[in-house]
Amino acid sequence: MSLTIKSIPIPVIAIFVITLWSGCTKDSNTDGPECNISGITLTYTANIKGIIDRHCLSCHSGAGPGPDDYRTYEGLKPHLDEGHVRLRVVINKDMPQNGGMTQAERDSINCWILSGYPKQ
Ligand code: HEC
Repeated sequence: MSLTIKSIPIPVIAIFVITLWSGCTKDSNTDGPECNISGITLTYTANIKGIIDRHCLSCHSGAGPGPDDYRTYEGLKPHLDEGHVRLRVVINKDMPQNGGMTQAERDSINCWILSGYPKQ
């Protein structure tokens, strides 16, 4: 019995490996729409906290029905790091669950996350 791997051409193996690799490195903090606001760096304190307070805290303030506590930057940060906030608000747009967020607000969150989500 011969090893079947020998009959698979190298380019096929290379494409397979590259596909697998890019699948694993898919990052919801960098994929998706580019920032469309130029010339200004948004900060949590000045620009983002108000949006989060208005659209997220009815469910994400520690008491449910949404998980976690977004009342502070520190409470939000782990979910920014995971890429879940950008995934749900900017890419999938299924948060806030009850809708009502403008595209301009999603754009602000997108640019803020892409610039490294500065607090001040
Ligand atoms: C009406 C209630 C509601 C509102 C408002 C809401 N969420 Fe959620 N959210 C949920 C529920 C319930 C879940 C858990 C089920 C799920 O993942 O869809 C959830 C899950 C999430 C998750 C996934 C949790 C994780 O860490 O993987 C993220 C991220 C998230 N919400 C972000 C937000 C952001 C940001 C806002 C405001 C822009 C928001 N949500 C507004 C109800 C809500």
